[in-house]
Amino acid sequence: MWKPDRQSKKTLYEQIADHLEQRISYGEFPPGSLLPSERKLAEQLDVNRSTVILAFAELRSMGIIESRTGSGTRVSKSKWGATPKHTPNWRRYAEGGSFLPNLPFMRKIREALTQQPSLIDFASGELAADLAPVDEIAKLMSEHKYTSYLGYDNPQGYIPLRQDLVSFLARYRGIRTTESSILITSGSQQSLYLITQCLLSPGDAVAIEDPSYCYSLPMFQSAGLRLFRLPVDQHGVRPDDIRALYKKHRIKMVFLNPNYQNPTGTVLGAERRKQVLDVASELALPIVEDEPFSLTAYEGNPPPPLKSMDTVGSVLYIGSFSKIAASGLRIGWMVAPRSIVERLADARQQMDFGLSVIPQQVAAQFLKSSHFEPHLDRLRIQLQYKRDLIIEALRKELPDLVTFTAPEGGLHLWCKLVPEVHDGKLLDEAIRKGVVFVPGSVYGSDSGFVRFTYARATAEEIGLGISGFAEALRELIDERSCLD
Ligand SMILES: Cc1ncc(COP(=O)(O)O)c(C=O)c1O
Repeated sequence: MWKPDRQSKKTLYEQIADHLEQRISYGEFPPGSLLPSERKLAEQLDVNRSTVILAFAELRSMGIIESRTGSGTRVSKSKWGATPKHTPNWRRYAEGGSFLPNLPFMRKIREALTQQPSLIDFASGELAADLAPVDEIAKLMSEHKYTSYLGYDNPQGYIPLRQDLVSFLARYRGIRTTESSILITSGSQQSLYLITQCLLSPGDAVAIEDPSYCYSLPMFQSAGLRLFRLPVDQHGVRPDDIRALYKKHRIKMVFLNPNYQNPTGTVLGAERRKQVLDVASELALPIVEDEPFSLTAYEGNPPPPLKSMDTVGSVLYIGSFSKIAASGLRIGWMVAPRSIVERLADARQQMDFGLSVIPQQVAAQFLKSSHFEPHLDRLRIQLQYKRDLIIEALRKELPDLVTFTAPEGGLHLWCKLVPEVHDGKLLDEAIRKGVVFVPGSVYGSDSGFVRFTYARATAEEIGLGISGFAEALRELIDERSCLD
């Protein structure tokens, strides 16, 4: 993000005026469009509001912008658009299309993290740099020649990676499959996208867990799907609820995250796993098993995936490199019947001709390298350590104000706030205190929850972040009791 150069000979306001003029002339702010307010720009650029006022005055004197009391500052139409040439109404276009924007809380969190990179991040569901195998991957990249031909690859995915995944899935997840049943995707997110766009139709009813990561994705609504909830208790969803939703709404598919579920950390009980598969086969109902966290199991082996127990072929299994290695490689996979893999690979051909071959080669090297197992062992220990740190900090800072169940794997802690406070106010206050988290309402229908991701912050930041959060929460509670 551009900021004025305080060492420059040019004054701050002149630099800002030049910068805005350039962005206007490049079309970022077309004629008639609203500029950010003086206060917002001052915050973004780390300058006094009076500096922005001077910059605006300069642009106004050149006729580039116009300000009207009560309606803000706009790019002037007379100077930049008064000819037979007309700029398309980009804002209208930006609001068009069938793809819905991200949820306001998610956009606010992303904006806060971009503008204040020093925020302690309990929101991003990914590993910190010290947990990712950065050095191992750099070493592999320096040791291997990656490709001799950089043409379009198979849209189903790089064949050696699919072959390596066959052994990986057999060894770590007990899933027996073949390379022709595997589709490589840009993270599991793309698997979800392909399923919602290519296998379902607008108006179809689907069941998702409540709370669930899926709720945070307007992608489901963009596909025109009708969402029905499967409440999650301490052993996951209840199989009878699936049957009931089928009877009532003829659901077409069920989305489950059975191990260390995002956001609750819950594990689907062993008996329920069998029953879910029984219901699925009884109703010929596909189950999407989203399984990104299993290999983070802190102690012992994670429960077996539904896919490994599926004798009928009800399960579309999706996995990812993101939570066990590196989200930036964007490597995910789907194991599905051949007809589905072919259909989705064909869609990939239209969308992007498949994933870049380079990260696929890196992932394949890493999976079969001697670095993989030691990395996983270290990851599990470190994640457990960070989980313990956040729990200790919460017990110290908010013993009476939060309740939670300690997860046995994954990256997230799901906390119930004992007195309910306003989600948005709590997030704003926490950001002011230097910490960001995800309000629970993003993931489901119940209010009064918070999701903390403990994998992204450093060990030192965890205690500090929780004390900032505790201050924010206590302030809101005090404010409320003053009003009561
Ligand atoms: C349950 C679940 N599924 C899918 C994803 C998407 O992850 P990726 O596309 O990085 O694999 C996430 C990310 O947070 C997740 O928590």
